[in-house]
Amino acid sequence: MAAHFHSFTLIFFILCGLIFQAWADNPISPGFPYGSKKVRGVNLGGWLVLEPWITPSLFDGTGNSAIIDEWTFCQFQPRNVAQSKLQNHWNTFYTEADFAAIAAAGLNHVRLPIGYWAFDVGPGEPYIQGQLPFLQKAVTWAGNHGLKLIVDLHGAPGSQNGFDNSGHKVSFPQWHSNSTNIARTNAIIKTLANMFKTNTNVVPAIAPLNEPAGFDGSAVLAATRQFWYDSYGNIRFPFGSSQQSNTLVIIHDAFQPLSYWNGFLTAPRYQGVAMDTHIYQIFSNSDVAMSQQGHINAACAKGSSLASFDLWTIVGEWTPAATDCAKYLNGRGIGARYDGSFPGSSFVGSCSGKSGAASSFSSSYKTFLRQFWEAQTITYEKGQGWIQWTWKTQAGAGEEWSYQAGLQNGWIPQNPTSRQFPNICG
Ligand SMILES: *[C@@H]1O[C@H](CO)[C@@H](O)[C@H](O)[C@H]1NC(C)=O
Repeated sequence: MAAHFHSFTLIFFILCGLIFQAWADNPISPGFPYGSKKVRGVNLGGWLVLEPWITPSLFDGTGNSAIIDEWTFCQFQPRNVAQSKLQNHWNTFYTEADFAAIAAAGLNHVRLPIGYWAFDVGPGEPYIQGQLPFLQKAVTWAGNHGLKLIVDLHGAPGSQNGFDNSGHKVSFPQWHSNSTNIARTNAIIKTLANMFKTNTNVVPAIAPLNEPAGFDGSAVLAATRQFWYDSYGNIRFPFGSSQQSNTLVIIHDAFQPLSYWNGFLTAPRYQGVAMDTHIYQIFSNSDVAMSQQGHINAACAKGSSLASFDLWTIVGEWTPAATDCAKYLNGRGIGARYDGSFPGSSFVGSCSGKSGAASSFSSSYKTFLRQFWEAQTITYEKGQGWIQWTWKTQAGAGEEWSYQAGLQNGWIPQNPTSRQFPNICG
């Protein structure tokens, strides 16, 4: 009798343990089977947040060299001119046909950058609104074509990194040091979480802030850590504290090694969190000086940290480009490290035939792009997968970055799992 009692007790506790384990492993039902299916996708860069290098003609067409980002685009032109150019850009740069083509290319995700000013323009801020209907259209189009859409807040008030792609290029970011800026950002994340909390089959994830500038010091990192905690609450509990949402929170590593974030927002206490890391090998003199084989080796070397990190890890931005030659990539009017025209850099090689129109690329360069693309996708799938920057550029601009141009010119396969160089990483 006593023995029976003990084995029943034991079985009871084992069952409880298994149920708890199942709950802990699978506490939410995201709209995509993260953890078992690889993320393969593209960013929709330069659409709802302008970037000079993605659409250089929008900037060149202003005839004003002081227009270097979306802030100055709105500030230094008559408002009606800026408004109509933006409206035309939003209407034409992406259409449903792009979403159909992205799905046809075998991809399952799009990541859509949007700026805070789509939701909230403060006093003294020149930004022009009108992006939200396009966010809604993008969600509809993603749903129509079976794509998952990650909403990515790419620019916060004060700028979280000072980059032109945050909307406002500034010498030092002001987001983290100003509680009004942070409060405004939290309010937008609440709004986004509410907008999509019942449509997680199409919008499975929100990335509450792109690339906060952790390299600018501990004050940025401290504000970022607190903002991730606040975003966890806002995104995971939009129905109130007693009910979890099915929306994944995708935090960014703030340019720190993944190990910096060990144990941060991890299970079992926290559920439904993924890590986004961006991998570029072009934004330093030593990076652009690497050989083609060096670039491939550096990509392959990322596999073990991606595979072993304690949160699902997605490489949410990367590129097969191995130079910073794309016009305006380092900012409008600023040159490239690769050809020594960037301040403080020295000549590695000519940018001719390395960037611009794909029709100018040699077959050996396209073979390298294919090898580098395969090395990266093979490696990033050792983590949870990848989202390339970016689906398209304006025709002729930085096409080595364009997934669409890669498909058309053969350095990206029509099926993202097919390989010409399956052993590129050894
Ligand atoms: C903080 O940011 C807000 C805009 O979000 C701005 O109005 C305010 O002047 C800033 N405060 C300081 C001290 O810079």
